[in-house]
Amino acid sequence: MENKYPSLLNPAVTRLTPQQIFELIKDDLVEVEEELARQVQSSVHIIHQIGRYLMDAGGKRIRPALLLLGSRLLGRPSGRDVIRMAAVVEFLHTATLVHDDIIDEAELRRGRPSVNSHWGNEITVLMGDWLYMVAFENSLKERNFGLLDILTRATRKMVEGELIELMHVGNLDLTEANYFDLIRRKTAYLFCASVEIGGLLGGANRDELQSLHDYGMNLGTAFQLIDDVLDFASSEDALGKPAGNDLKEGKLTLPVIYLMESGDPALREMVATVIRDRDYTHVARRQLLDALNGMGALDRAREEARAHSAAAWNALDAMPDTTSRLALQSLTQFILEREH
Ligand code: IPE
Ligand code: IPE
Ligand code: MG
Ligand code: MG
Repeated sequence: MENKYPSLLNPAVTRLTPQQIFELIKDDLVEVEEELARQVQSSVHIIHQIGRYLMDAGGKRIRPALLLLGSRLLGRPSGRDVIRMAAVVEFLHTATLVHDDIIDEAELRRGRPSVNSHWGNEITVLMGDWLYMVAFENSLKERNFGLLDILTRATRKMVEGELIELMHVGNLDLTEANYFDLIRRKTAYLFCASVEIGGLLGGANRDELQSLHDYGMNLGTAFQLIDDVLDFASSEDALGKPAGNDLKEGKLTLPVIYLMESGDPALREMVATVIRDRDYTHVARRQLLDALNGMGALDRAREEARAHSAAAWNALDAMPDTTSRLALQSLTQFILEREH
């Protein structure tokens, strides 16, 4: 059978807009929001209060969208299990954000004061733990070991990613291999888990699950690459979270790794100064951005993201040619163009 959508990188190829993707899963997403509201219910007042605060702030809901679309790839309509698990992956993601903002001392998330800046670190650590546990409690209701295997592995990888990143704080010699390893762990595995669990609930076979895994790994990698580019190129207002923070925290991301690889002592010193100052006092943020742009480092990182997005698109080529597949493939473009 002829493939109607051979390559996304060809601009003439049909793809869905983010709006069209949203339309496809809109009804399910309403149910996911209701499920999220149910899952944050607690008789403990402070938990309920923070839970509502977190869920009301929204977010792009990419992981639930991946799970919903993954479950439909083989033509099966969404059931309770799919809605519940879509809420679970958003819960796990939210738990990592809550803990990540403590680690990063970030005061803004999703355009609002972060939980840590509002309630303090002690309460926030415990709230993160609570979110993890409720996510697992709800996923246990499926009585499905395959699903739990995927989910526990992804969660472990995320925590490992955050820990490895911390171990490299201030490491000016971080390699590209180190970087890709840590972004796969901290971000891509949960993308994989979301779309694979969708596939699992939708009846995917081994080969199909492997395709979904490859798709998620590449999509998640591209997503974090763009997140890291936006940290330099965008603003707090546009992102709804701090910008220019990664390097201040001593975290080298791919654009800076390229800058360091250039071997230019002045550029290396510039990077070392920002990390030492933990601020943009001696080196202005603009100066760093100009240096990155001057050597094409941001474009190279975007190019890398594009390559991973293309690989994600291609990973689904063997799946049945359905609207859900086109939606998942179109998402690979959407994440490249995203502004927040
Ligand atoms: C932020 O994820 C953390 C990263 C993996 C970069 P999202 O950009 O999906 O965050 P929300 O859920 O839309 O706020
Ligand atoms: C997030 O990475 C990955 C997580 C597992 C939370 P970042 O540290 O880049 O996420 P943001 O930029 O704070 O959203
Ligand atoms: Mg962070
Ligand atoms: Mg970031």
